[in-house]
Amino acid sequence: MPHFGDHQSSIYFHGMFLDQAPDITTDLTALESHAAQVLSPEAMGYVVPSAGGGATARANVAAFDRWRIVPRMLRDHAVRDLATDVLGTAMAAPVLLGPVGVQTLAHPDGELATARAAAGMGLTYVHSTQASHSIEEAAEANGDGPRWYQLYWPTDPELCESFLARAKAAGYTHLVVTVDTTLLGWRPRDLDRGYLPFLQSVGTANYTSDPVFLRRLEKSPEEDPGAAGIAFASVFPNPGLDWGQLPWLRERWDGPILLKGVQHVDDARLAAEHGLDGVVVSNHGGRQVDGAAASLDQLPAIADAVGDRMAVLFDSGVRSGPDVVKALALGADAVLLGRPYLYGLALAGQAGVEHVLRCLLAELDLTLGNAGYRSHRELDRDALAAAPR
Ligand code: FNR
Repeated sequence: MPHFGDHQSSIYFHGMFLDQAPDITTDLTALESHAAQVLSPEAMGYVVPSAGGGATARANVAAFDRWRIVPRMLRDHAVRDLATDVLGTAMAAPVLLGPVGVQTLAHPDGELATARAAAGMGLTYVHSTQASHSIEEAAEANGDGPRWYQLYWPTDPELCESFLARAKAAGYTHLVVTVDTTLLGWRPRDLDRGYLPFLQSVGTANYTSDPVFLRRLEKSPEEDPGAAGIAFASVFPNPGLDWGQLPWLRERWDGPILLKGVQHVDDARLAAEHGLDGVVVSNHGGRQVDGAAASLDQLPAIADAVGDRMAVLFDSGVRSGPDVVKALALGADAVLLGRPYLYGLALAGQAGVEHVLRCLLAELDLTLGNAGYRSHRELDRDALAAAPR
């Protein structure tokens, strides 16, 4: 039975017998500095930084370092299995490609490359409302791959209904409603250069391909991209959103619904009480509330409170295979990868995303095995110890 960890042998064989070393580093924590050498200042400014001074983004990564894996020995792990099922979606491993907008900033192929890479690996692709390719284009690239749709809930109900209907028709099975971005966070690196791609109609492909949105415009987005950008800006912020509106959404989406951006245990409980199917414990990679709690620090209490009633997914700060092990041991059913795959995209398009995914899953598989586990399903908090302070 092949294992994701076999990728390690493949790299060694290619190096030793074919004189082919990997084009991109296998140290996934070093991807950011490598991507920085190829990304434009605008792309770097949009992708890498976080809100404010970046305290939460740093805290996300630091939180992983406060946990240590405690390997167990002499437990047969010759056959390992990372396959999983999250709310009815079969996945080759408990890792999804999280919703990340404006991916053409990283590479001209943008979301199409990511959707193809995800399908090739049997991992779930989550399409962002702020994508630079449309719902339908990404679905076509994703083919038979598993795919979910991430909703930024616009203030225009008819537009919202149209997004949902298009996503359903294009084969997206689950809805991930991002609730932490009803207003854009304070992002100095973009503000300092007065740069917001959406106002140039970059990262608004779902809107500019939408019949309801187009009806609101006097001229086509090609004729007047500025007016389309302003129309987007008039429907995107939705600070009036509240729990009472969730039944409206439920009536319009018959598949599973997850809330992304949950940080407080009481909000996780409310999500369960409102009949949602899952939460993504996330602080948006520190891009929204600077000073917010590290996402990993919030995970155990949320998993304890609602893990038996709904799926608990996690993101913000996952950089390596051991990070995935830690998040799963602390109660996540699966994790969403964010920036690392975007760096792979920047470095080599689809091949770069595949490289990052293969390395991450290989490191996950080898870490699990070397720690004495045959499957991520065997992980619990006994697998970890708090690092001495
Ligand atoms: C994001 N994220 C995001 N989330 C979302 O729900 N919709 C979106 O359109 C975007 N767009 C986006 C763009 C960029 C450039 C980044 C870096 C992130 C947040 C994303 O889904 C995820 O929560 C974070 O990326 C997790 O943090 P790390 O692990 O990337 O630091």
